[in-house]
Amino acid sequence: MTLFYSKALEDKLLGPFFIHELGDDMQSEEWVDHIDLLADFWLSELNGENTYIGNYIGAHIKVSHITQESFVIWLKLFSQAVNKVYTQDIAEQFKDRGILLAKEFQQVLKIKGKEWIQTKRKTYSS
Ligand code: HEM
Repeated sequence: MTLFYSKALEDKLLGPFFIHELGDDMQSEEWVDHIDLLADFWLSELNGENTYIGNYIGAHIKVSHITQESFVIWLKLFSQAVNKVYTQDIAEQFKDRGILLAKEFQQVLKIKGKEWIQTKRKTYSS
């Protein structure tokens, strides 16, 4: 999580979304809480543990101007981070679920784009 967010913060397209909601200091209480929340979210997504209670789609409705391109970058940085941190098996599970969730977000947030997710998993394997 920390690796992903440090890269996301540096990214010129993704960074401003997070800075706007949480600031640019990853040591701050907001950030520490956010990263804890996301760790709980992923534990519940991948292990079926009952660790996350929240409205993750709703949390993004207020993040205005998310575009299809932002999701492509999100997925790229997310995939690079999990490839570095986890064994291949686990990284694949994160990436598969990340792709599904990102697709769901796009549909619910009604973001349209021409090339969205013909993104095969391979695209993100390096
Ligand atoms: C362009 C893509 C994305 C951007 C810019 C983005 C940005 C954000 C921001 C700024 C927040 C904090 C909202 C707040 O606390 O006020 C947030 C929360 C969150 N995001 Fe994302 N996000 C993106 C994609 C995703 C994806 C694909 C997932 C899931 C795989 C995800 C999962 C979450 C979750 C679980 C939360 C916490 C929701 C809660 O408060 O319960 N995000 N996101």
